[in-house]
Amino acid sequence: MPVQPEPLQPAYADLALTLITSRQTILPKRLFEPGPNPAQIDDLFTVAAAAPDHGEIRPWRFVLVPPARRADLGDAFAQALLQRDASATPEQLAQAREKAFRAPFVALAIARLGPSEPEINTLERMVSVGAAIQNILLMAHALGFGASLTGGLAMQSTAMRQLLQLADGEHAICCINVGTVQKRRPSRLRPTPDAFVSSL
Ligand SMILES: Cc1cc2nc3c(=O)[nH]c(=O)nc-3n(C[C@H](O)[C@H](O)[C@H](O)COP(=O)(O)O)c2cc1C
Repeated sequence: MPVQPEPLQPAYADLALTLITSRQTILPKRLFEPGPNPAQIDDLFTVAAAAPDHGEIRPWRFVLVPPARRADLGDAFAQALLQRDASATPEQLAQAREKAFRAPFVALAIARLGPSEPEINTLERMVSVGAAIQNILLMAHALGFGASLTGGLAMQSTAMRQLLQLADGEHAICCINVGTVQKRRPSRLRPTPDAFVSSL
């Protein structure tokens, strides 16, 4: 349902500050069942669409990897490793495959950087992709889940391109992993604004 563009109550500022500053990466090996249910998954992608999107070109899309397709994702990880290192051992290949099975929920984030709408350049599109992904991470956190992004060289591999049926100009960016956290670690220390904000 569309959200009415009414001014938010000031109380939301405190909630937003708490929500955003308490988000932390929880790597897939620390994510357990249950994952998000279908209504919660819908929420994750609804908020993705709230990302700023210059020209409304939606320079992102997402591909879910349900349990029945995890083996295919694992095969893509293994093939990508073999492509980089033909001497990869069976143990290394098994480890690459296993990565696909860790988190209860996995979706691939894809950037759409093709030649249509050339006035919206790649940098702007990637800002939009990142904003959509961050919205998903924050929504997962708001729903009480842990979440993380995992990328790496496999994302650019032929095997991954084939698995995701990427079109020209589309690029796999990372996996979005979501699940239940059993034990949280203290958040890392964040830089304060004086470290990255200046004034003209
Ligand atoms: C596009 C992208 C890909 C990432 N891929 C990985 C990854 O493969 N492995 C990993 O440990 N972290 C990965 N990260 C997560 C960062 O390492 C993580 O954000 C960083 O450790 C800071 O933690 P925080 O999210 O709690 O601030 C990735 C982050 C981004 C933005």
